[in-house]
Amino acid sequence: MTSDDQKRAAAEKVLEFIEPGMALGLGTGSTAEHFVRELAVRVRAGLKVRATSTSDRTEALARELGIPVVTLDELGAPDITVDGADEVDSELRLIKGGGGALLREKVVAAASKHMIVIADWTKHVGALGAFPLPVEIVTLAPHTTMRRVAEVVAGAGCRGNLISLRGGERPFRTDQGNFIADVTCEFIPNPNELARSLSGIAGVVEHGLFIGLCQTLILGHSNGLEIVTR
Ligand code: A5P
Repeated sequence: MTSDDQKRAAAEKVLEFIEPGMALGLGTGSTAEHFVRELAVRVRAGLKVRATSTSDRTEALARELGIPVVTLDELGAPDITVDGADEVDSELRLIKGGGGALLREKVVAAASKHMIVIADWTKHVGALGAFPLPVEIVTLAPHTTMRRVAEVVAGAGCRGNLISLRGGERPFRTDQGNFIADVTCEFIPNPNELARSLSGIAGVVEHGLFIGLCQTLILGHSNGLEIVTR
């Protein structure tokens, strides 16, 4: 099975958790897209669900495929949110935001009764940090905020603290109009502590460490699926 086959298999498996009438959070990224496509097949076959999206692009896809999408406020707490991840460790802590949607992804996940992450096996890591940590920052004085982020990352004992503005001279804008700084931490010795410290920096809107939000992980392997619960 290719990595894309593993993502699709995890996306098919998660449908077993979905019940008629549920309120759903729709994640962002290539794995979540498999889920949205599979869900749309069930919706067209008569499954009634309501959904909110974690990004404009997922919302556009869901609408195109016939899945009714409303705002999170209109939906209320999602029964289940299904999303991908850039990294996940054995405590189901995540790095997310590779696709730039971390703010809405975290708001939706935090509002949800149950967050299920679907991924191929390459996303499962012994320790978080090899994937550059996305940090969403306000557009006011980005380099000042980034310097502070780099100091905090170094102070948290990470091996690296190189930081770059996504998009460089023409910075990437999130759906909420903010910038993203990507930090090469290499190894994060204490993700909980780093998450707390980053949240305390003025100018940081949100960071890509998702701690205590994911309860279930469905991981695609070349020889089948693994389900981990917390
Ligand atoms: C989007 O901002 C991210 O958090 C994605 O969920 C994450 O990058 C996983 O994407 P893939 O499913 O494409 O690997």
